[in-house]
Amino acid sequence: MRQAGRYMHEYQAVRQKYDFLTICRTPELIVEVTHQPIDAFGFDAAIVFSDILLIVEAFGFDLRFYDDVGPVISNQLTRGMKLTRHDVSFDYVIQAIKMLKKSLKVPLIGFAGAPFTVASYFAKDAKLWLLEDPDSFDLVVDLVADATIDYLNAQIDAGCDAVQIFDSWSDRLALTQFDRFVKKPIQKILKGLKKCPVILYGRANIDRLHTLQPQALSLDAQTSLQQVRKEVGNLCLQGNLDPDILRTNPETVMRETNAILTSMKNDPAFIFNLSQGIHKETPRQNVEALVHCIKSYG
Ligand code: CP3
Repeated sequence: MRQAGRYMHEYQAVRQKYDFLTICRTPELIVEVTHQPIDAFGFDAAIVFSDILLIVEAFGFDLRFYDDVGPVISNQLTRGMKLTRHDVSFDYVIQAIKMLKKSLKVPLIGFAGAPFTVASYFAKDAKLWLLEDPDSFDLVVDLVADATIDYLNAQIDAGCDAVQIFDSWSDRLALTQFDRFVKKPIQKILKGLKKCPVILYGRANIDRLHTLQPQALSLDAQTSLQQVRKEVGNLCLQGNLDPDILRTNPETVMRETNAILTSMKNDPAFIFNLSQGIHKETPRQNVEALVHCIKSYG
């Protein structure tokens, strides 16, 4: 789950001094903000502080983040332009992982975006492109898959205990396109990865990814854990509290959290998680209520 962020005053204090991308590119700052939610709430695992979009710099894109807008790439790729990969090592992430492995007492999760979701940000009119000219879009996702393999393998070498691949926009595709532009590139990545547990995050149709044999699937709130459980055998499932629930009040948080825990009681392999990134207007006491509710359950 997205752990760090603007809902924490500790994070805001760092953000007053540095912008988001500066934090993402400075090992000591990555270490500091990765620790913040673990130290404050006692989550069972940490996720490296970074973003799925940093990898676009390996293709020469100009990535910026604006408050209240989010990520913007001004020099997007248009149809007919060739995607070229530059030699970018993401050393700052690798250094931070090595430092975190020394200081953290919980497992560390590395991550990357899946090729379709990453391409959705840098390719102009990505969906129209893949519908009208699927062959050239294949080449784009294939190159992103190659860069992702190298990036995740570097994170695994540096000591990550598991890696997660986020295909946050996979629900924008119909089934035929899903298999070609979501499933196939993720399959390529899984084949290219060194030995390490892999968690796949996706939205609609995530059950179609279980044949790729990841160690876990991470579900969003629109997907039924019980339904997916029926289709995937004993595969580990994560999910799927809607992060908007964390914007309400402790009673509602506890009611909804208990509902998920009870629905998955006696399940062979279930890990509680959020459906997607945590909202910046999340009261801290709701996160505390969430953790208390899970740790005291049953
Ligand atoms: O502890 C952590 O926060 C882990 C690091 C992490 C971030 N982004 C940090 C971040 C992870 C795992 C992500 C994943 C990510 N990034 C996804 C996939 C899953 C998800 O969380 O929904 C996506 C689609 C992105 C792209 C992205 N990054 C968007 C759309 C935005 C702007 C909207 C927002 O949520 O603020 C970001 C910015 C971002 N990434 C922030 C953080 C902490 C907020 C940065 C800030 O303003 O200080």
